[in-house]
Amino acid sequence: MMGLKVSCFVFFLLLQAVNGDVSYSFQEEMKRGSLIGNIAKDLNLDSSKLFARNARVDAAGNRKRYCDISLSTGDLIVADRIDREGLCGEKLSCVIKRDLVLENPLELHPFSLHIHDINDNSPQFKEELINIEIRESAVRGARFVIEEAHDADVGQNSVQQYSLKKNDNFILAVNGNTIELVLDKELDREKQQNINLLLTALDGGSPQRSGTVVIHVTVLDANDNVPVFSQAVYKASLPENSPLDTVVVTVSATDADEGVNGEVTYEFGHVSEDVKKVFSIDRKNGKIKVKGAIDFETVATYDLRIKAKDGLGLSSYTKVTVDVTDVNDNIPVIYVKSLANPIPENVSPGTEVSIINVQDADSDNNQQVRCSIQQGAPFKLVPSIKNYYSLVTTGQLDRELVSDYNITITATDEGSPPLSSSKTVQLSVADINDNPPVFEEQSYSAYVAENNKPGSTLSSVTARDPDWRQNGTVIYSLLAGEVNGAPVSSYLSVNGDTGVIHAVRSFDYEQLRSFKVHVMVRDNGSPPLSSNVTVSVFISDVNDNSPQILYPAPEGNSFMTELVPKAAHAGSLVSKVIAVDADSGQNAWLSYHIVKSTDPGLFTIGVHSGEIRTQRDISESDSMKQNLIVAVKDNGQPSLSATCSMYLLISDNLAEVPELKDISYDEKNSKLTSYLIIALVSVSTFFLTFIIIILGVRFCRRRKPRLLFDGAVAIPSAYLLLITQTLTEQELYAALTIMTPT
Ligand SMILES: *[C@@H]1O[C@H](CO)[C@@H](O)[C@H](O)[C@H]1NC(C)=O
Ligand SMILES: *[C@@H]1O[C@H](CO)[C@@H](O)[C@H](O)[C@H]1NC(C)=O
Ligand SMILES: *[C@@H]1O[C@H](CO)[C@@H](O)[C@H](O)[C@H]1NC(C)=O
Repeated sequence: MMGLKVSCFVFFLLLQAVNGDVSYSFQEEMKRGSLIGNIAKDLNLDSSKLFARNARVDAAGNRKRYCDISLSTGDLIVADRIDREGLCGEKLSCVIKRDLVLENPLELHPFSLHIHDINDNSPQFKEELINIEIRESAVRGARFVIEEAHDADVGQNSVQQYSLKKNDNFILAVNGNTIELVLDKELDREKQQNINLLLTALDGGSPQRSGTVVIHVTVLDANDNVPVFSQAVYKASLPENSPLDTVVVTVSATDADEGVNGEVTYEFGHVSEDVKKVFSIDRKNGKIKVKGAIDFETVATYDLRIKAKDGLGLSSYTKVTVDVTDVNDNIPVIYVKSLANPIPENVSPGTEVSIINVQDADSDNNQQVRCSIQQGAPFKLVPSIKNYYSLVTTGQLDRELVSDYNITITATDEGSPPLSSSKTVQLSVADINDNPPVFEEQSYSAYVAENNKPGSTLSSVTARDPDWRQNGTVIYSLLAGEVNGAPVSSYLSVNGDTGVIHAVRSFDYEQLRSFKVHVMVRDNGSPPLSSNVTVSVFISDVNDNSPQILYPAPEGNSFMTELVPKAAHAGSLVSKVIAVDADSGQNAWLSYHIVKSTDPGLFTIGVHSGEIRTQRDISESDSMKQNLIVAVKDNGQPSLSATCSMYLLISDNLAEVPELKDISYDEKNSKLTSYLIIALVSVSTFFLTFIIIILGVRFCRRRKPRLLFDGAVAIPSAYLLLITQTLTEQELYAALTIMTPT
């Protein structure tokens, strides 16, 4: 087992045992043939006879002899390799017992061989590499037993000491056979996961031998590292309304530990329920995603606390700040804060009608709102403080032109794209009584035939007032005034509601041909507005008067006689019938006709002039007395007529017919004079009585002086009226005829 060269340094130790046994001591591993001792000499044997006596070394059984005897010299020599370790192992003394056998006679000499150790073995560890695993969490002073090294040699030659190559973490503690690694400085797997230590075992031989072993220390992980986020604070910007599953930010944390200790999972730290409704976090990859509705207007910033946890529950935290950015997703809203409705039409330009407020929930530009109203209406928006606007009038309003306004206010923000909304403000204009009623015509004329029935309709007036309700309600009335000294109300009346004008009395064209009245219209406003119009009433003639013959005097009342000279030639004017007609126009257009005559061929009458002329020369044979009956007709429909008789006397001297002259003049004059006297006396009496009555009435009822005639001014007409009523028509005309020439 070993090829160890042993020098000739041989110890002979001849031990004379008590029992007389011979023994030799020598080192192991001597070369074959090396001399152990001279056993023949030591046993007092005759070496010359050794051969003869067949001397030999004998081992019990089949065991190796290890040595032989030299038959010539009697030397005991090494016959085999002698390895102490092989023979005796760890026993300190190693003795081999053998016998020397001789024959003739048989002799048996036991002897023993003491084998000494030499340092021929190195210390040796059981394995070349020792693997140990130490958890990094092991504390300083922790001990780890290492199996000791072995050295087959014994005694000093066996393992005497150990040494550990210098390293950072471990020192060596040796106590007898117990070898321990002592942790001097704590391990950190994250710094150094594997450590190789070199342990050397040394024996005490000379030369010294050693053996080494590599101790491979695997540092096992302990969960001694918390996950570490890559950033202390994460910032993210997220547009509102981002779709679901949008990745907001990815947080990441690393854990220096390994395996389960380094497996990082993510979750929310302490966050509100609201945040959990909006965001989700992926446990594995740390992606934070949108899970719910993001509304800038509700929450503009989210602070999320994120927890990273490793497998065994060490955790750390980070903060994610999510700034939600505004998107123009809110339309501007228009609020009508106040509204004066209705507004009176007479407000001055610049009057504030309404206050508008616009709000936009977005921010920045998306919140900037411009307001406008449509053109055309007399209003404008005046920006006021902040988002307030005043709606003011820009001009005069006129309810009668535009009574309602729908003002559409449009608000547009400055987002991109811009959003807008509009609102319509309904505004009505309240009436002010600013329009007087106006008659449709500048003036009115009414035409009525005389002798009308009282109450008959003459005409109607119409006025318009564009104002509203009572401000536009028209009421007609007659303006006080006089016609021929009598109040107009005794002539006409007007229907207050309809404007229809009625006659109050029957008119007489011969007395009153036309008159004017003023009709007033007023509205019902307060104060009322009014205007007036002139209504001219024209009374038209009706043929109600017969022609009145003035000359010759009517039949029965006179004996008018015309003298016709006997020498009158044809065409000579003889006389003239004079007639008048109180009517007018056609009704007064008279025509004259001879309806009967004594000698029809002798006289003609001018149809329109009433002149009676001879038609031929008078001849002696013509009768002296000629009678004509003349009819006077007017041109009315139907026409009226009157007749008279004309007495013509063909004579050159009136004296020829005295009886006619006397009778006619006397009778006529006296009769007329007496009529006139009676009439004047009675009228004067009446007149005086009348004055007295009027004065009395005035005195007693001062408050209503105008109920009756208007004093003195009215008298002359009344007087005339009275006269006409007292006298018959014929008498009146007769009187007029007489009075006129004087
Ligand atoms: C205003 O709007 C109302 C309702 O929409 C409508 O009835 C009315 O006719 C409008 N007025 C004007 C002046 O446009
Ligand atoms: C009529 O006009 C007056 C002001 O002149 C006003 O106060 C009143 O309200 C108006 N009446 C109506 C019914 O509009
Ligand atoms: C009638 O109208 C005229 C002008 O149109 C005015 O001057 C006059 O005062 C009015 N009369 C009355 C009584 O209102």
